[in-house]
Amino acid sequence: MDVKQKFAEGVETTKWLTGLSQNDFDLLKEAAPQASQWGADFVKIFYDTLYTHHRTAAVFHSDERAEREKTLERWYLSLFDVDSEDDFLRSQARIGLVHIRRHVHNQFMIGIAVKFCAAFQSKAIETFGPRRGNEVAQAFDRVINAVVSLTAEGYEVMSKTAFSESTGAGPALIDRLIQESVDQVETDLLS
Ligand code: HEM
Repeated sequence: MDVKQKFAEGVETTKWLTGLSQNDFDLLKEAAPQASQWGADFVKIFYDTLYTHHRTAAVFHSDERAEREKTLERWYLSLFDVDSEDDFLRSQARIGLVHIRRHVHNQFMIGIAVKFCAAFQSKAIETFGPRRGNEVAQAFDRVINAVVSLTAEGYEVMSKTAFSESTGAGPALIDRLIQESVDQVETDLLS
């Protein structure tokens, strides 16, 4: 299966499992006048968290925080102006790749996404009230989690592909080796 087809399959699975649809982006568009003002606060929470834990801080070069803050805020604002969810998800392949290239583990992506979504939920409820706030926050969660899940899938697929290409082992053998490692790790971890 070629890489474009694999990515398209990943998008389909992510949409199905998260329930993400254009409705979410339409809802975010309606919330844009208020939500687009929260970017600076979220960016601060996001990078304060990543820069104060040794494993995530180690990902960054010493002089890049200002640039990182700028690109994250720009990306955050772009979430409130999406006309096609499929175009949006396709365009997120790049985000996945830049993180994989910089050794951003899936655990880091998932953890910070939880914090990002929680901060958004608090602001949304404070601003729109519990009912509307929750609707907007759930739309936001679906978007963020879709992006993170595509990145995680990309990391897994690329790790296996790299291993396969460097060793000549096919997917079935790789899968068997992983299963055998699970048994070993389980013994080591739980003994
Ligand atoms: C919800 C999770 C995350 C989102 C939505 C996100 C979003 C972004 C965006 C939009 C960019 C700019 C991409 C571009 O140049 O087009 C970026 C770059 C970057 N992010 Fe994240 N990020 C996330 C998590 C993380 C984490 C956990 C780390 C590190 C521990 C991290 C480190 C970086 C780095 C180092 C770059 C620069 C990559 C490069 O161009 O070399 N990000 N991120």
